[in-house]
Amino acid sequence: MAGYKKLRSQSAACRRFLFLFVFTLFGVGLSVFVLRTNSVSSIAKEPADESGHDGGSSWPQNPNLPKQSELSARLDKQNQLPPRNRDMFPHLAKDHITIVLYVHNRPQYLRVVVKSLSQVVGISETLLIVSHDGYFKEMNAIVEGIKFCQVKQIYAPYSPHLFPDSFPGVSPRDCKDKDDAGKIKCQGNPDQYGNHRSPKIVSLKHHWWWMMNTVWDGLKETRDNSGHILFIEEDHFIFPNAYRNLQALARLKPQKCPDCYAANLAPSDVKSRGEGWESLIAERMGNVGYSFNRTVWRKIHKKAREFCFFDDYNWDITMWATVYPSFGGPVYTLRGPRTSAVHFGKCGLHQGRGERSACIDNGEFNIDVDDIDKVRNIKPQWNVHVYENQPGYKAGFKGWGGWADQRDLQLCLAFAHLYHTAESASS
Ligand SMILES: *[C@@H]1O[C@H](CO)[C@@H](O)[C@H](O)[C@H]1NC(C)=O
Repeated sequence: MAGYKKLRSQSAACRRFLFLFVFTLFGVGLSVFVLRTNSVSSIAKEPADESGHDGGSSWPQNPNLPKQSELSARLDKQNQLPPRNRDMFPHLAKDHITIVLYVHNRPQYLRVVVKSLSQVVGISETLLIVSHDGYFKEMNAIVEGIKFCQVKQIYAPYSPHLFPDSFPGVSPRDCKDKDDAGKIKCQGNPDQYGNHRSPKIVSLKHHWWWMMNTVWDGLKETRDNSGHILFIEEDHFIFPNAYRNLQALARLKPQKCPDCYAANLAPSDVKSRGEGWESLIAERMGNVGYSFNRTVWRKIHKKAREFCFFDDYNWDITMWATVYPSFGGPVYTLRGPRTSAVHFGKCGLHQGRGERSACIDNGEFNIDVDDIDKVRNIKPQWNVHVYENQPGYKAGFKGWGGWADQRDLQLCLAFAHLYHTAESASS
């Protein structure tokens, strides 16, 4: 009996040893394999790091990015297509200022904006980039109809609108509203006011940040551009003199206002049409028709963490409350005394601070354009009037919430690393 038992335990020990041996062999093999693939992928990545950017599509998928839906992958490919209308406008002017129009899904607004752009003096000299949050046929049709300049369309590939049943869209396990994740076993982190993420709401800030990173550092059409880039939205009416005024502001900025970070088409008070004075104006950064250069973008990009970890779903309030204050001094923008752009959206997604849903109005607008606003109306001999200590969001503001889900914060940060290595992007 005893001998049998001993025999059994001996063979058991032998089996254990064999198992351990095979297991170790397997483990060593596996780690050699992992090490090798790692070093291969890090070698493959190096050239991109040195030049500061890559094409975005030829590199292994960033592990911090969600798995792409079919639509998302298809649109990502379309982002590589060259601009349209190159046959009609084969050359961009040497000193052109690229215009980026970012849109969601308000076709009745977009029609107005595009019509206004078609009347802008000088528009044929430049490239218009339209950045889409989501894929909407009617929006596409409007953009495809543009014949007055080169047009490049890009789609935010990680827009919540492209993911029907998974993050960044809604996934079945997601917490909603004020759900208690501990009690009902759902996924998500509530914001400072106890609310869970709403994909429709977070899509705006994600889009803005993805677009900024992509336009400055991703697209081959713009990533070597050192001049200003102008940013406008689907509910901004653009005056015929906007482009010529902007060129004048960009030219005058270094002498007239060396402390200005940007040039704006419109006053920072969106209700104002300007003072009508015979002078330039320097004031706090506005969010209608703003433009800046790559030096400023690099400063913004260094603050990716501040931008991505601030609990407010509005990109502009996030900038005012975290990024600009971190520059260590007032962040002025230079503009003319008469506006060259008007925000006309009455019930935008964007300003819906309390009411968290979009509404539609009839799309009729009556914006008077005087003759003086049809030609450049900025004079190089003017002085600069500086507005100091204007009211508005600033450092210390706690944020309106809506932006606290860890998955959103990580996705946002991943956008900052899309075209950079981790070391060069975070601060
Ligand atoms: C870009 O703008 C900033 C702020 O106005 C200025 O200091 C900088 O010299 C500009 N950079 C280039 C390359 O023009």
